[in-house]
Amino acid sequence: MNLEENTSLEEISTIPFWKADENILKSESAGESNMNVVVRVTTNLRSVIIKQSKPYVNKFPQIPAPIERVNVEHEFFKVISKSSTLRNYSPQVLKFIPEQHLLITEDLGKGSDFGGIYHGDFNLSKTEVNNLSEYLIALHELEPKEFPDNTLMKKLNHEHIFSFPFQVENGFDLDSVQYGLQELSLKYKTNIPLKRKIEELGKRYLKQGETLLHGDFYPGSWLKTEAGLKVIDPEFAFLGDPEFDLGVLFAHLDLGQQPEEVKTKILHTYALPLSPELLNQYQGVELLRRLIGIAQLPLNMTLDQKESLLVKAEQLILS
Ligand SMILES: Nc1ncnc2c1ncn2[C@@H]1O[C@H](COP(=O)(O)OP(=O)(O)OP(=O)(O)O)[C@@H](O)[C@H]1O
Ligand SMILES: [Mg+2]
Repeated sequence: MNLEENTSLEEISTIPFWKADENILKSESAGESNMNVVVRVTTNLRSVIIKQSKPYVNKFPQIPAPIERVNVEHEFFKVISKSSTLRNYSPQVLKFIPEQHLLITEDLGKGSDFGGIYHGDFNLSKTEVNNLSEYLIALHELEPKEFPDNTLMKKLNHEHIFSFPFQVENGFDLDSVQYGLQELSLKYKTNIPLKRKIEELGKRYLKQGETLLHGDFYPGSWLKTEAGLKVIDPEFAFLGDPEFDLGVLFAHLDLGQQPEEVKTKILHTYALPLSPELLNQYQGVELLRRLIGIAQLPLNMTLDQKESLLVKAEQLILS
């Protein structure tokens, strides 16, 4: 079946999943999403989340995307279910139907994600900061023997993290985001030593490592629910450098204007081996691509504030 936000209840009832006495009452969008179709289905017995991947980016059907990403997501939830810590932070998988690219999971509730952080009007609580470190430690110490290489998704991400943002003529007018940003970006797009470092780092990202990463560990993947912070959407997961997850996290702490001590705290708790230099580089490139790449965030920042972050990012990468 082809799942859409307006797929009829009748058609949803044909998915080989429901219990005999189950009546489907309602289907609605589960929340904000670009990549996939994600719906919340309410029945007389429960509420579940159904996610379907398509051979393209759902919001931009002209952009092809690997349809197997839902398998990666399923595999990730399967692997992490070995850890009771990680189970606590994740939705339970109820059914996976690979032929239909459908993943059905527990509904964690109508909470919001942590995207509000970019408005700069709230700080993560102590508990939430602890949750994020606890999650990453439990994940990074798993080191499963096998995991899908997720090459196609990594290539997609690679383009938007390490390549596109640094092309002078990429056709994306940053002045449409904020006037003055286009000119500001040129300094970075034409900085040869910086670009060389980023290219190297990009090659490293594409290699396979031993540590299982979430792969997209940013506020859009964290849900605020009644039962606390949860982590969803591991479709970019792969075996790689743990510094990548941490670097992305740190970049978003900067973009969300969180106090510097949050990072100190996380580093203090994160007891696994780590290269501070590599962490800095991944943090730097994530900062740059979010500021001058296509995957823009609803940032509440002046051009000057963005410039300070760009300078910081450059230093993180080059020093
Ligand atoms: N298990 C769940 N429980 C409650 N809400 C959920 C659950 N899974 C997803 N959602 C909601 O649906 C939204 C979209 O889900 P998800 O991020 O997995 O989709 P996506 O298509 O991969 O999104 P993106 O384009 O951001 O990658 C989430 O932001 C969240 O609001
Ligand atoms: Mg996603």
